[in-house]
Amino acid sequence: MKTTHQTLDRRTFFSLVGTSIGAIVLSNCLSSCSAPAEAVSPGPSTGGTTGGSTGLTLNLNDAANAKLKQNGGFLYKNGMIIARTKDGSFIAVSQVCTHAGVTVEFDAAGNRIHCPGHGSNFKNDGSIINGPAGSPLKAFKTTFDSTSNTLKIG
Ligand code: FES
Repeated sequence: MKTTHQTLDRRTFFSLVGTSIGAIVLSNCLSSCSAPAEAVSPGPSTGGTTGGSTGLTLNLNDAANAKLKQNGGFLYKNGMIIARTKDGSFIAVSQVCTHAGVTVEFDAAGNRIHCPGHGSNFKNDGSIINGPAGSPLKAFKTTFDSTSNTLKIG
C-alpha cells in the first residue's frame, strides 16, 4: 500500500490557518453584535409609554388578587400598580413615580394615579395630569377574560 503525503510550504500553511482563524473571529463577532431579545418591547403610545408583553396573568378568583374584584381596588405586582377603575376597566402602569421614585397609588375617588411623594397625578393611561413629574408612567395593555375571570397584562 502506498501512501502519499502532501506537504505545505510555510506560506500556504499560515495562509490557511489565518483564514480559518479569521472566519472564526468574524463569526463570533457577528453573533455577539446582534441585538438582544427584549423581554418587554415598546408598543403604541397612548399618553404614557405603553409596554409590551409582561407574561403576567392574574386570576381574580385567587385571594391575592381579590382587590381587583371591586371598582377602585388596586394591588402591586411585578413593579406595576394594577387597578380596577370606577367604570370597572383595568389599568396597569409602572408603580414607580418618574419624579423621584416614590410608589404611586390609585386614587379611586379621583379615578387617577396619585403620587404621595410630591403630589404628581397621572391619568389612567400613565400620562401626566400635573407634576412635578415630567415623564409619564409606563403603561401596559390589559385584557380581561370574564369567562375565566383572568386579567392578562401586556
Ligand atoms: S416622587 Fe412622585 S411626585 Fe415626587
